[in-house]
Amino acid sequence: MSQGRRPQTTSRLAPRRRPGESATARLRVLFLINEAEPLVKVGGLADVGGSLPAALREIGLDVRLALPLHPTLRPLVKGERPSAALPISGARGPQTASIYTRRLGRVPLWLIDGPPLREADHIYHTRPEEDAGKLVFASIAALRHAAHCGWVPQVVHAHDWHTAAALHWMRSEASSVSPLSASAGVLTIHNLPYLGQNAGAALREYGLPPPGEPDGPAIGPDTPYAYVPEWARDALLALGIASAERIVAVSPTYAREILTPEYGSGLHGLLQARADGLTGILNGLDVRLWDPSRDSRLAARFDATRIDRRARNTAALRVGFGLDGHGERPLAGIVSRLDRQKGLDYALPALEGWLAAEGQLVVLAAGDPELQRAYVELGERHPGQVGVRIGYDPELAARIYAGAHLLVMPSRYEPCGLSQMIAMRYGCLPLVRSAGGLKDTVRDAERPGGTGFVFDAATPEALAQALARAMSLFAQPRRWRLLQLRGMKKEFGWANSARRYKQVYQQAVRARARSARLTQEAR
Ligand code: ADP
Ligand code: GLC
Repeated sequence: MSQGRRPQTTSRLAPRRRPGESATARLRVLFLINEAEPLVKVGGLADVGGSLPAALREIGLDVRLALPLHPTLRPLVKGERPSAALPISGARGPQTASIYTRRLGRVPLWLIDGPPLREADHIYHTRPEEDAGKLVFASIAALRHAAHCGWVPQVVHAHDWHTAAALHWMRSEASSVSPLSASAGVLTIHNLPYLGQNAGAALREYGLPPPGEPDGPAIGPDTPYAYVPEWARDALLALGIASAERIVAVSPTYAREILTPEYGSGLHGLLQARADGLTGILNGLDVRLWDPSRDSRLAARFDATRIDRRARNTAALRVGFGLDGHGERPLAGIVSRLDRQKGLDYALPALEGWLAAEGQLVVLAAGDPELQRAYVELGERHPGQVGVRIGYDPELAARIYAGAHLLVMPSRYEPCGLSQMIAMRYGCLPLVRSAGGLKDTVRDAERPGGTGFVFDAATPEALAQALARAMSLFAQPRRWRLLQLRGMKKEFGWANSARRYKQVYQQAVRARARSARLTQEAR
């Protein structure tokens, strides 16, 4: 995920095992991810890491979650002896990986530590190569630990470039004596442009030279690397795409978009070659966490039957941001990373139009320093009408979803997007660009079953037009209410998507068995 993002952590760990819980005969899945709410969160990756493993366990899978021991997680294991210590061979001699075991809710959790993780002072540094060493180390250590404790997963499920090296390792010479070389690999792509490039040094360090190098795997036409462009041979995500039995994009539209040059980040050829094994599965939400009828962070809890109470959250939000409380002005909200992806640069001129039409705005965002400045200045130019908080604040985020009338998400690309789904559950209408998961989850007010506002071009003009449409619909409270209620009643949980993942795992296991058979026959 994004380099330069800053972590947030809390430590709600529940060491609870269900009575009689047994792992036998259940599909074993090792889930490798770099963020998991509530332990460590930078963006939506953490929402998925914190909720999908639990949803998979709920449908009967034996899932274990491995997470690098990020600097902010260190206090959790202070003074404790690790449950396992394993030597990981490196170019400069073996390094010891320490594994601390916990539970995240009901999901067994392995926190992975070792020298390269201790050297890191952030989750994400500015350039991917600064993080590649620790991430390759953590990925290999998680796989080695599984073999070491005799729990051999049938599926290793990696997420984004951070853990993709695990899939490459499973297909490499280095793993040939490991029982995990027979496991199937699944890769979920949450954000394609973050490729994890320039990881050659890290790969060499841990005995995985990039394909095409003298000691690395061959790159001939019959190899998995045939479609990896030369420049991407040291990009961890490209190697994961080449090695995985099955690939998942986090929405059906994104699964199609990444096959095109416009959204393919230079890997569209590779992805097209793997299109048979690529599918789109929409993320779900942790609907217990994101529930306006139980959310204690709100000024007033509400649901579809008590939606009038929602106005108290709007009033509290206005007070919190020092906004003028008079009149029936629509209040737009932004809760976002500030990154080119999110389109909040071209949004600025369009938002001026919204403000000129007497709309109000609250912003909670962090990221690109120039954009941070631009939003702070917008707030200074419009006191009483615009409130801006730069930073990361989950509680304030919830208050914005619960109090703003409109959530603005003009993303240039959006693999899935969780904020628009949270907004809908909280009765806040999403205004989104028609891309990726935004297209799959929000239906325009002018269409039957509408739940928000959708526009096409990533331009200030197109966004301004959508904002103007929202403004005029806001003047028709009954229609507005209908849209709110529709969004609040939509099904955003994991149940369907978890079942789809289970099918993908089963397909991956079959594909792995098939290719092992073919390799055997060819010998
Ligand atoms: P992305 O992962 O690309 O950032 P998503 O919409 O998938 O976008 O997920 C964003 C998640 O991060 C949501 O849970 C949202 O509420 C949260 N979030 C984003 N920015 C902030 C912020 N500044 N403070 C608190 N939560 C934030
Ligand atoms: C990435 C994407 C976002 C997606 C999230 C979880 O951060 O930018 O669209 O919702 O991952 O899959």
